[in-house]
Amino acid sequence: MKRNKEFANRLHALVPKFAYVPQEDRFLMNPGSLKYRFNVIGVGVNGQEHIQVTMLEGRCTIHGVYDPNPSSVEAARHLKAQFTSEPLMAYETLEAACNDPAVDGLIICTPNFTHLDVLKAAVQSGKHILLEKPMATNLRDAYEIWQMAQNYSRVLQIGLQYRYKPIYVEAIHEARERKSLGEIKTITILEHREPFLDKVKQWNKFSKYSGGTLVEKCCHYFDLFNLFAGSRPLNVYASGSQAVNFKSFEYGGEKSDILDNAFVIVEYANGIRANFNLCMFSPMVYEELVLCGDEGRLKASEGFNGQAHSQWGSYLEVICTPEKTSRVTTPSYPEAIENTGHNGATYYEHLRWIEAMDGQPTTAATPEEGFWSVVVGVAAEESVKRGEKVLVRELLEANGLGDLT
Ligand SMILES: NC(=O)c1ccc[n+]([C@@H]2O[C@H](COP(=O)([O-])OP(=O)(O)OC[C@H]3O[C@@H](n4cnc5c(N)ncnc54)[C@H](O)[C@@H]3O)[C@@H](O)[C@H]2O)c1
Repeated sequence: MKRNKEFANRLHALVPKFAYVPQEDRFLMNPGSLKYRFNVIGVGVNGQEHIQVTMLEGRCTIHGVYDPNPSSVEAARHLKAQFTSEPLMAYETLEAACNDPAVDGLIICTPNFTHLDVLKAAVQSGKHILLEKPMATNLRDAYEIWQMAQNYSRVLQIGLQYRYKPIYVEAIHEARERKSLGEIKTITILEHREPFLDKVKQWNKFSKYSGGTLVEKCCHYFDLFNLFAGSRPLNVYASGSQAVNFKSFEYGGEKSDILDNAFVIVEYANGIRANFNLCMFSPMVYEELVLCGDEGRLKASEGFNGQAHSQWGSYLEVICTPEKTSRVTTPSYPEAIENTGHNGATYYEHLRWIEAMDGQPTTAATPEEGFWSVVVGVAAEESVKRGEKVLVRELLEANGLGDLT
Protein backbone atom coordinates (compact mmCIF):
# COMPACT_ATOMS: atom_id res chain seq x y z
CA MET A 1 0.00 0.00 0.00
CA LYS A 2 1.31 3.44 -0.85
CA ARG A 3 0.95 6.25 1.64
CA ASN A 4 1.41 9.79 0.46
CA LYS A 5 0.52 12.76 2.60
CA GLU A 6 -2.50 11.31 4.32
CA PHE A 7 -2.67 12.12 7.98
CA ALA A 8 -1.00 9.13 9.58
CA ASN A 9 -0.40 8.40 13.20
CA ARG A 10 2.40 5.92 13.57
CA LEU A 11 2.04 6.09 17.33
CA HIS A 12 -1.32 4.33 17.07
CA ALA A 13 0.52 1.30 15.76
CA LEU A 14 2.01 0.90 19.22
CA VAL A 15 -1.22 1.14 21.16
CA PRO A 16 -1.90 -2.40 22.48
CA LYS A 17 -5.62 -2.35 21.59
CA PHE A 18 -4.70 -2.02 17.89
CA ALA A 19 -2.26 -4.93 17.98
CA TYR A 20 -4.94 -7.19 16.47
CA VAL A 21 -4.79 -5.36 13.09
CA PRO A 22 -2.74 -7.65 10.79
CA GLN A 23 0.35 -6.09 9.19
CA GLU A 24 -1.13 -6.44 5.70
CA ASP A 25 -4.20 -4.41 6.74
CA ARG A 26 -2.26 -1.49 8.18
CA PHE A 27 -2.43 1.72 6.20
CA LEU A 28 -2.49 4.78 8.48
CA MET A 29 -0.60 2.78 11.10
CA ASN A 30 1.99 1.54 8.62
CA PRO A 31 5.29 3.40 8.88
CA GLY A 32 6.27 2.06 5.45
CA SER A 33 9.18 -0.17 4.63
CA LEU A 34 12.14 -0.09 6.97
CA LYS A 35 14.43 2.80 6.05
CA TYR A 36 17.58 2.45 8.14
CA ARG A 37 19.20 0.26 10.79
CA PHE A 38 21.22 1.76 13.62
CA ASN A 39 23.71 0.46 16.15
CA VAL A 40 23.99 2.20 19.50
CA ILE A 41 27.41 2.47 21.17
CA GLY A 42 26.88 2.90 24.91
CA VAL A 43 23.39 2.02 26.14
CA GLY A 44 23.05 3.72 29.49
CA VAL A 45 20.17 6.08 30.11
CA ASN A 46 20.79 8.13 27.00
CA GLY A 47 21.44 5.21 24.65
CA GLN A 48 18.16 3.72 25.82
CA GLU A 49 16.36 6.98 25.05
CA HIS A 50 17.72 6.75 21.50
CA ILE A 51 16.51 3.15 21.23
CA GLN A 52 13.07 4.16 22.44
CA VAL A 53 12.63 7.08 20.06
CA THR A 54 13.92 5.07 17.09
CA MET A 55 11.46 2.25 17.74
CA LEU A 56 8.58 4.61 18.53
CA GLU A 57 9.15 6.63 15.36
CA GLY A 58 8.91 3.34 13.46
CA ARG A 59 10.63 3.89 10.11
CA CYS A 60 14.04 2.74 11.37
CA THR A 61 15.17 0.12 13.84
CA ILE A 62 17.94 -0.55 16.31
CA HIS A 63 19.94 -3.45 14.94
CA GLY A 64 22.43 -3.89 17.78
CA VAL A 65 24.47 -2.40 20.59
CA TYR A 66 27.99 -2.37 21.95
CA ASP A 67 28.51 -1.73 25.65
CA PRO A 68 31.00 -3.39 28.03
CA ASN A 69 28.48 -3.22 30.90
CA PRO A 70 26.27 -6.36 30.70
CA SER A 71 23.32 -4.80 32.55
CA SER A 72 23.21 -1.91 30.08
CA VAL A 73 23.00 -4.44 27.21
CA GLU A 74 20.29 -6.33 29.08
CA ALA A 75 18.27 -3.13 29.53
CA ALA A 76 18.62 -2.40 25.80
CA ARG A 77 17.50 -5.92 24.93
CA HIS A 78 14.45 -5.58 27.15
CA LEU A 79 13.59 -2.20 25.62
CA LYS A 80 13.80 -3.37 22.00
CA ALA A 81 11.67 -6.42 22.88
CA GLN A 82 8.83 -4.06 23.85
CA PHE A 83 8.56 -2.99 20.21
CA THR A 84 9.58 -5.98 18.07
CA SER A 85 10.28 -9.69 18.21
CA GLU A 86 13.49 -9.19 16.19
CA PRO A 87 16.37 -9.93 18.60
CA LEU A 88 18.97 -7.29 19.48
CA MET A 89 22.51 -7.96 18.27
CA ALA A 90 25.11 -7.53 21.04
CA TYR A 91 28.61 -7.03 19.65
CA GLU A 92 31.82 -8.13 21.37
CA THR A 93 33.88 -5.19 20.13
CA LEU A 94 33.45 -1.56 19.15
CA GLU A 95 34.89 -2.27 15.70
CA ALA A 96 32.38 -5.06 15.06
CA ALA A 97 29.51 -2.74 16.02
CA CYS A 98 30.80 0.06 13.79
CA ASN A 99 31.49 -2.05 10.71
CA ASP A 100 28.50 -4.38 10.45
CA PRO A 101 27.37 -4.02 6.81
CA ALA A 102 23.72 -4.53 7.86
CA VAL A 103 23.77 -1.14 9.60
CA ASP A 104 23.37 2.36 8.15
CA GLY A 105 24.00 4.61 11.15
CA LEU A 106 25.79 4.71 14.51
CA ILE A 107 24.56 6.49 17.63
CA ILE A 108 27.37 7.23 20.09
CA CYS A 109 26.18 7.61 23.69
CA THR A 110 29.29 6.76 25.68
CA PRO A 111 30.68 8.96 28.48
CA ASN A 112 32.01 12.31 27.31
CA PHE A 113 35.74 11.53 27.69
CA THR A 114 35.43 8.54 25.33
CA HIS A 115 33.75 10.41 22.46
CA LEU A 116 36.86 11.19 20.42
CA ASP A 117 38.26 7.63 20.56
CA VAL A 118 34.89 6.05 19.79
CA LEU A 119 34.31 8.50 16.95
CA LYS A 120 37.72 7.69 15.43
CA ALA A 121 36.61 4.04 15.17
CA ALA A 122 33.14 5.03 13.96
CA VAL A 123 34.28 7.21 11.05
CA GLN A 124 36.25 4.26 9.63
CA SER A 125 32.86 2.72 8.85
CA GLY A 126 31.70 5.51 6.56
CA LYS A 127 28.25 5.30 8.18
CA HIS A 128 26.00 8.16 9.31
CA ILE A 129 26.76 9.20 12.90
CA LEU A 130 24.86 10.84 15.73
CA LEU A 131 27.36 11.82 18.43
CA GLU A 132 26.07 12.79 21.84
CA LYS A 133 26.83 16.12 23.48
CA PRO A 134 29.17 17.46 24.65
CA MET A 135 31.19 16.33 21.65
CA ALA A 136 34.31 16.42 23.85
CA THR A 137 35.52 17.42 27.31
CA ASN A 138 38.13 19.93 26.10
CA LEU A 139 38.78 22.34 23.25
CA ARG A 140 41.47 20.41 21.42
CA ASP A 141 39.36 17.24 21.16
CA ALA A 142 36.27 19.25 20.19
CA TYR A 143 38.23 21.02 17.47
CA GLU A 144 39.63 17.69 16.20
CA ILE A 145 36.09 16.32 15.94
CA TRP A 146 34.92 19.40 14.04
CA GLN A 147 37.83 19.00 11.60
CA MET A 148 37.16 15.26 11.19
CA ALA A 149 33.55 16.07 10.38
CA GLN A 150 34.53 18.54 7.66
CA ASN A 151 36.17 15.72 5.72
CA TYR A 152 33.43 13.18 6.41
CA SER A 153 31.12 12.40 3.53
CA ARG A 154 28.21 11.12 5.66
CA VAL A 155 26.00 12.90 8.19
CA LEU A 156 27.72 13.65 11.50
CA GLN A 157 25.16 15.27 13.80
CA ILE A 158 25.74 16.38 17.40
CA GLY A 159 23.16 15.49 20.06
CA LEU A 160 22.32 19.05 21.08
CA GLN A 161 18.61 18.35 20.87
CA TYR A 162 17.30 20.95 23.33
CA ARG A 163 16.65 23.16 20.31
CA TYR A 164 13.79 20.70 19.61
CA LYS A 165 12.11 21.03 23.00
CA PRO A 166 8.70 22.59 22.29
CA ILE A 167 9.43 25.86 24.12
CA TYR A 168 12.73 26.39 22.30
CA VAL A 169 11.30 25.46 18.88
CA GLU A 170 8.69 28.17 19.37
CA ALA A 171 11.13 30.66 20.88
CA ILE A 172 13.52 30.21 17.95
CA HIS A 173 10.60 30.74 15.59
CA GLU A 174 9.44 33.91 17.39
CA ALA A 175 12.89 35.39 17.80
CA ARG A 176 14.74 34.40 14.65
CA GLU A 177 12.08 33.82 11.97
CA ARG A 178 9.07 35.87 13.01
CA LYS A 179 11.27 38.51 14.65
CA SER A 180 8.49 39.30 17.14
CA LEU A 181 10.95 40.83 19.60
CA GLY A 182 12.68 43.12 17.14
CA GLU A 183 16.44 43.01 17.68
CA ILE A 184 17.40 40.75 20.56
CA LYS A 185 19.63 42.44 23.12
CA THR A 186 19.72 40.10 26.10
CA ILE A 187 19.25 36.36 26.71
CA THR A 188 18.66 34.71 30.07
CA ILE A 189 18.42 30.99 30.76
CA LEU A 190 17.86 29.45 34.15
CA GLU A 191 18.08 25.77 35.02
CA HIS A 192 17.16 24.62 38.51
CA ARG A 193 17.18 20.87 38.96
CA GLU A 194 18.10 17.86 40.99
CA PRO A 195 21.71 16.63 41.25
CA PHE A 196 23.35 14.59 38.50
CA LEU A 197 22.03 11.01 38.54
CA ASP A 198 24.05 7.86 39.13
CA LYS A 199 25.98 6.67 36.08
CA VAL A 200 27.95 3.56 35.14
CA LYS A 201 31.33 4.16 36.83
CA GLN A 202 30.06 7.57 38.00
CA TRP A 203 31.93 9.43 35.26
CA ASN A 204 29.70 12.52 35.60
CA LYS A 205 30.99 13.29 39.12
CA PHE A 206 34.47 14.15 37.83
CA SER A 207 35.43 17.07 35.61
CA LYS A 208 38.20 15.13 33.90
CA TYR A 209 35.65 12.64 32.55
CA SER A 210 32.71 14.97 31.89
CA GLY A 211 34.46 18.26 31.08
CA GLY A 212 32.89 19.77 34.21
CA THR A 213 29.26 20.65 34.84
CA LEU A 214 29.32 23.74 32.61
CA VAL A 215 30.50 21.64 29.67
CA GLU A 216 28.66 18.39 30.39
CA LYS A 217 25.17 19.67 31.05
CA CYS A 218 25.25 23.31 30.15
CA CYS A 219 26.57 22.95 26.59
CA HIS A 220 22.84 22.58 25.76
CA TYR A 221 22.13 26.10 27.04
CA PHE A 222 25.26 27.57 25.49
CA ASP A 223 24.18 26.09 22.17
CA LEU A 224 20.88 27.93 22.63
CA PHE A 225 22.72 31.14 23.58
CA ASN A 226 24.80 30.86 20.41
CA LEU A 227 21.70 30.19 18.31
CA PHE A 228 19.69 33.11 19.70
CA ALA A 229 22.67 35.48 19.59
CA GLY A 230 23.60 34.48 16.03
CA SER A 231 27.13 35.61 16.78
CA ARG A 232 30.44 34.43 18.25
CA PRO A 233 31.11 34.59 22.01
CA LEU A 234 33.83 37.14 22.82
CA ASN A 235 34.26 36.65 26.55
CA VAL A 236 32.84 34.71 29.44
CA TYR A 237 32.68 35.48 33.13
CA ALA A 238 31.45 32.82 35.55
CA SER A 239 31.22 32.29 39.26
CA GLY A 240 30.26 28.94 40.76
CA SER A 241 30.99 26.34 43.41
CA GLN A 242 30.30 22.84 44.69
CA ALA A 243 28.05 24.01 47.50
CA VAL A 244 25.87 20.98 48.32
CA ASN A 245 26.11 17.95 45.99
CA PHE A 246 28.62 15.10 46.21
CA LYS A 247 30.84 16.95 48.67
CA SER A 248 31.60 13.68 50.45
CA PHE A 249 31.38 11.55 47.30
CA GLU A 250 34.41 9.42 46.45
CA TYR A 251 34.81 6.82 43.71
CA GLY A 252 37.96 4.76 43.19
CA GLY A 253 39.65 6.84 45.87
CA GLU A 254 38.95 10.15 44.07
CA LYS A 255 36.79 13.00 45.35
CA SER A 256 34.09 14.48 43.17
CA ASP A 257 35.03 17.95 41.87
CA ILE A 258 31.99 19.20 39.93
CA LEU A 259 30.15 22.50 40.26
CA ASP A 260 26.54 22.37 41.46
CA ASN A 261 25.72 26.07 41.07
CA ALA A 262 26.96 28.83 38.78
CA PHE A 263 26.21 32.18 37.20
CA VAL A 264 27.65 32.61 33.70
CA ILE A 265 27.72 35.82 31.65
CA VAL A 266 28.61 35.72 27.95
CA GLU A 267 29.24 38.78 25.74
CA TYR A 268 28.83 38.30 22.00
CA ALA A 269 30.58 40.03 19.13
CA ASN A 270 27.30 41.67 18.02
CA GLY A 271 26.73 43.24 21.46
CA ILE A 272 24.17 40.69 22.71
CA ARG A 273 24.61 39.70 26.36
CA ALA A 274 23.57 36.36 27.80
CA ASN A 275 23.41 35.08 31.33
CA PHE A 276 22.85 31.63 32.74
CA ASN A 277 21.81 30.65 36.26
CA LEU A 278 22.35 27.05 37.39
CA CYS A 279 21.30 25.41 40.63
CA MET A 280 21.52 21.61 40.87
CA PHE A 281 20.22 21.19 44.39
CA SER A 282 16.62 22.16 43.72
CA PRO A 283 13.80 19.63 44.23
CA MET A 284 12.52 20.03 40.66
CA VAL A 285 13.49 20.03 37.00
CA TYR A 286 12.84 23.54 35.73
CA GLU A 287 14.08 25.62 32.80
CA GLU A 288 13.30 29.19 31.94
CA LEU A 289 14.23 31.38 29.00
CA VAL A 290 13.86 35.15 28.77
CA LEU A 291 14.70 37.04 25.58
CA CYS A 292 14.56 40.84 25.56
CA GLY A 293 14.46 42.69 22.28
CA ASP A 294 13.80 46.30 21.31
CA GLU A 295 10.19 45.41 20.34
CA GLY A 296 9.22 42.83 22.92
CA ARG A 297 10.06 40.26 25.55
CA LEU A 298 9.65 36.48 25.42
CA LYS A 299 9.47 34.28 28.47
CA ALA A 300 9.22 30.49 28.26
CA SER A 301 9.43 27.74 30.84
CA GLU A 302 9.00 24.00 31.31
CA GLY A 303 9.49 21.54 34.10
CA PHE A 304 8.01 19.50 36.88
CA ASN A 305 8.44 19.63 40.62
CA GLY A 306 7.06 16.27 41.64
CA GLN A 307 4.43 17.92 43.84
CA ALA A 308 0.84 17.03 43.05
CA HIS A 309 -0.46 20.51 43.90
CA SER A 310 1.68 22.29 41.36
CA GLN A 311 2.47 20.65 38.03
CA TRP A 312 4.02 22.95 35.46
CA GLY A 313 3.25 22.62 31.79
CA SER A 314 5.28 24.18 29.00
CA TYR A 315 4.54 27.89 28.79
CA LEU A 316 5.55 30.64 26.39
CA GLU A 317 4.53 34.29 26.33
CA VAL A 318 5.48 36.99 23.87
CA ILE A 319 4.69 40.48 25.11
CA CYS A 320 5.24 43.04 22.36
CA THR A 321 5.16 46.80 22.04
CA PRO A 322 1.57 47.99 21.31
CA GLU A 323 1.81 48.02 17.52
CA LYS A 324 2.17 44.22 17.47
CA THR A 325 0.10 41.34 18.81
CA SER A 326 1.16 39.60 22.01
CA ARG A 327 0.36 36.00 22.91
CA VAL A 328 0.52 33.25 25.47
CA THR A 329 0.92 29.64 24.33
CA THR A 330 1.55 26.18 25.75
CA PRO A 331 3.80 24.47 23.19
CA SER A 332 3.75 20.68 23.19
CA TYR A 333 4.13 17.42 21.28
CA PRO A 334 1.93 14.32 21.61
CA GLU A 335 2.18 12.89 25.10
CA ALA A 336 3.68 9.57 23.93
CA ILE A 337 6.52 11.50 22.29
CA GLU A 338 7.12 13.89 25.20
CA ASN A 339 7.25 10.91 27.57
CA THR A 340 10.28 9.48 25.75
CA GLY A 341 12.39 12.12 27.49
CA HIS A 342 13.55 15.72 27.13
CA ASN A 343 9.98 16.72 26.28
CA GLY A 344 10.22 14.87 22.98
CA ALA A 345 13.31 16.70 21.76
CA THR A 346 15.30 13.51 21.14
CA TYR A 347 12.49 12.14 18.96
CA TYR A 348 12.59 15.25 16.75
CA GLU A 349 16.38 15.17 16.67
CA HIS A 350 15.99 11.70 15.14
CA LEU A 351 13.58 13.01 12.49
CA ARG A 352 16.17 15.62 11.52
CA TRP A 353 18.92 12.97 11.44
CA ILE A 354 16.87 10.75 9.12
CA GLU A 355 16.07 13.73 6.87
CA ALA A 356 19.76 14.62 6.69
CA MET A 357 20.56 11.01 5.69
CA ASP A 358 17.97 11.42 2.93
CA GLY A 359 19.92 14.46 1.73
CA GLN A 360 17.47 17.08 2.98
CA PRO A 361 18.61 20.33 4.64
CA THR A 362 18.64 20.17 8.43
CA THR A 363 18.40 22.46 11.44
CA ALA A 364 20.17 19.95 13.70
CA ALA A 365 23.39 20.83 15.51
CA THR A 366 26.50 20.58 13.37
CA PRO A 367 29.98 19.72 14.69
CA GLU A 368 30.86 23.41 14.28
CA GLU A 369 27.93 24.39 16.51
CA GLY A 370 28.87 21.61 18.91
CA PHE A 371 32.37 23.03 19.07
CA TRP A 372 31.16 26.54 19.95
CA SER A 373 28.89 25.20 22.69
CA VAL A 374 31.93 23.49 24.22
CA VAL A 375 33.95 26.71 23.85
CA VAL A 376 31.51 28.63 26.06
CA GLY A 377 31.39 25.77 28.58
CA VAL A 378 35.17 25.42 28.80
CA ALA A 379 35.58 29.22 29.07
CA ALA A 380 33.01 29.27 31.89
CA GLU A 381 34.75 26.45 33.79
CA GLU A 382 38.05 28.28 33.33
CA SER A 383 36.56 31.56 34.52
CA VAL A 384 35.28 29.92 37.72
CA LYS A 385 38.78 28.56 38.39
CA ARG A 386 40.55 31.85 37.66
CA GLY A 387 37.95 34.13 39.26
CA GLU A 388 38.13 36.47 36.28
CA LYS A 389 36.69 37.11 32.83
CA VAL A 390 38.06 34.77 30.14
CA LEU A 391 38.64 36.13 26.63
CA VAL A 392 37.61 33.45 24.14
CA ARG A 393 40.29 34.45 21.64
CA GLU A 394 43.03 34.05 24.27
CA LEU A 395 41.60 30.73 25.43
CA LEU A 396 41.57 29.36 21.87
CA GLU A 397 45.12 30.59 21.27
CA ALA A 398 46.31 29.04 24.54
CA ASN A 399 44.93 25.73 23.23
CA GLY A 400 46.83 26.06 19.98
CA LEU A 401 43.69 26.82 17.97
CA GLY A 402 44.48 30.33 16.74
CA ASP A 403 41.82 33.01 16.40
CA LEU A 404 38.59 31.31 15.33
CA THR A 405 36.27 34.05 16.63
N1 LIG B 1 21.46 14.94 24.77
C1 LIG B 1 21.07 14.78 26.02
O1 LIG B 1 20.14 15.42 26.48
C2 LIG B 1 21.79 13.80 26.90
C3 LIG B 1 21.18 13.31 28.05
C4 LIG B 1 21.88 12.39 28.82
C5 LIG B 1 23.17 12.00 28.45
N2 LIG B 1 23.73 12.51 27.32
C6 LIG B 1 25.07 12.11 26.91
O2 LIG B 1 25.07 10.72 26.57
C7 LIG B 1 26.31 10.14 26.93
C8 LIG B 1 26.05 8.96 27.87
O3 LIG B 1 25.43 9.45 29.04
P1 LIG B 1 24.50 8.51 29.93
O4 LIG B 1 23.75 9.43 30.81
O5 LIG B 1 23.75 7.57 29.08
O6 LIG B 1 25.60 7.72 30.77
P2 LIG B 1 25.48 6.25 31.40
O7 LIG B 1 26.62 6.10 32.33
O8 LIG B 1 24.08 6.05 31.89
O9 LIG B 1 25.68 5.31 30.13
C9 LIG B 1 26.89 5.26 29.45
C10 LIG B 1 27.02 3.84 28.90
O10 LIG B 1 28.20 3.77 28.08
C11 LIG B 1 28.89 2.56 28.38
N3 LIG B 1 30.28 2.75 27.99
C12 LIG B 1 31.29 3.33 28.69
N4 LIG B 1 32.40 3.35 27.93
C13 LIG B 1 32.07 2.78 26.75
C14 LIG B 1 32.80 2.51 25.55
N5 LIG B 1 34.09 2.87 25.42
N6 LIG B 1 32.16 1.90 24.53
C15 LIG B 1 30.85 1.52 24.65
N7 LIG B 1 30.12 1.76 25.75
C16 LIG B 1 30.73 2.37 26.79
C17 LIG B 1 28.65 2.34 29.86
O11 LIG B 1 28.86 0.99 30.23
C18 LIG B 1 27.20 2.78 30.01
O12 LIG B 1 26.31 1.71 29.81
C19 LIG B 1 27.14 11.26 27.54
O13 LIG B 1 27.94 11.84 26.55
C20 LIG B 1 26.10 12.25 28.01
O14 LIG B 1 26.58 13.57 28.11
C21 LIG B 1 23.05 13.38 26.55
